[in-house]
Amino acid sequence: MAENTDTATLTIKGKTYELPVHSPSGGPDVIDIRKLYGQADVFTYDPGFTSTAACDSTITYIDGDKGELLHRGYPIDQLASKSHYLEVCYLLLYGELPSADELETFERLVTNHTMIHEQMHNFFRGFRRDAHPMATMVGVIGAMSAFYHDSTDITDAHQREVASIRLIAKMPTIAAMAYKYSVGQPFVYPRNDLDYAANFLHMCFSVPAEEYNVNPILSRAMDRIFTLHADHEQNASTSTVRLASSSGANPFACIAAGIACLWGPAHGGANQACLEMLKEIGTVDRIPEFIARAKDKNDSYRLMGFGHRVYKNFDPRATVMKESADEVLDLLGVENNPVLQVAKELEKQALADPYFAEKKLFPNVDFYSGIILEAMGFPTSMFTPIFALARTVGWISQWKEQLADPQLKIGRPRQLYLGEMARDYVDIEKR
Ligand code: CMC
Repeated sequence: MAENTDTATLTIKGKTYELPVHSPSGGPDVIDIRKLYGQADVFTYDPGFTSTAACDSTITYIDGDKGELLHRGYPIDQLASKSHYLEVCYLLLYGELPSADELETFERLVTNHTMIHEQMHNFFRGFRRDAHPMATMVGVIGAMSAFYHDSTDITDAHQREVASIRLIAKMPTIAAMAYKYSVGQPFVYPRNDLDYAANFLHMCFSVPAEEYNVNPILSRAMDRIFTLHADHEQNASTSTVRLASSSGANPFACIAAGIACLWGPAHGGANQACLEMLKEIGTVDRIPEFIARAKDKNDSYRLMGFGHRVYKNFDPRATVMKESADEVLDLLGVENNPVLQVAKELEKQALADPYFAEKKLFPNVDFYSGIILEAMGFPTSMFTPIFALARTVGWISQWKEQLADPQLKIGRPRQLYLGEMARDYVDIEKR
């Protein structure tokens, strides 16, 4: 916990309360209200947690006004251009960049855990073929607690470590299997001679009947997508993982909860929703109609892939993702794809529109990631599972950090109750 540097004074009904103020290493000061209820018999009200710090953390820092994202202090653009996903995983999990030996050991460890228990294949087969891969992921990751009993005891540091590595290692295998199952193709086993991203592409796109060579530009782009999604501070799914874990739930159950939360279109589901929106727009001449709907106060329609709770400037992940999109589209020679043409023109028109400028709505990471994944050949239903795969390390790092916190308490928000107070039950014949 940070040092108290100041005190805030709160006056309620003529009585004054002194509240400690903590100074973070970055970001706004934080007023500590933990004792407020006990002292003043009041709650604070903050639906959507727009002004509430629910924990302290040393993992990720975002300055939304500057468009800055740091993992353990390292800027995301440097990590995306100079590092790679597994190194970033190490950094998030252990706090420092690894030495060459440490990285090699970590990569070997992850690689040794890529296969899943063979009996889990039968578990997949219980799903309908048309199940959304996110539905399959929620179920299968939750089911890991039924297959890996030796890594569910959260009080044992070794078991926590094994669960972390298992989740990072098996997530690509499980996501690829969810995809293969949905298209009716045989499951493809992982190949440990390939790197993390290349292995994922191999498990998604190779078939036993043919040789499949992973294009290094595509695997680099895939790795960058993973890196850019690795962690993002206390977002909705991470907070869900922390809340689930605060009750002492096992890691697989907690990560399944995170995946379920990520699925929604306001969060990780935005990449799928964005591509579907671009397809619905269809041609560039229809863009003004959709922009007008997004601006209409009486219409709940929003441009998917635009806006962010924290970034009120360009999303720094989107800047890197845009570069990657250009590289991949160039390689695949698909610049004339109508969806991509709509995307480029929509971005141009929205950025030039005063409504989006005034509300500080910029394209976010999901706007460009969907474009790349579409060009690579992934169906839209796989976009959010890929986000979940990449975010797993962030969830785990935050989960581990929380469990190590001696001040850990079960998460239990309060409420502003506006319902009826106690009243007598009325017999049915008298209602
Ligand atoms: N299109 C049109 N108007 C928008 C949009 C949008 N995409 N996003 C926000 N606004 C407007 C909104 O109507 C509101 O206007 P007013 O002040 O007149 O009521 C204002 O901007 C502020 O919006 P808000 O809903 O109060 O902002 P928020 O911080 O609660 O929501 C958001 C953030 C990401 C949920 C929202 O911008 C959104 O729904 N965007 C589309 C979905 C999306 O792309 N989500 C991915 C987020 S990035 C990936 C991730 O981290 O999960």
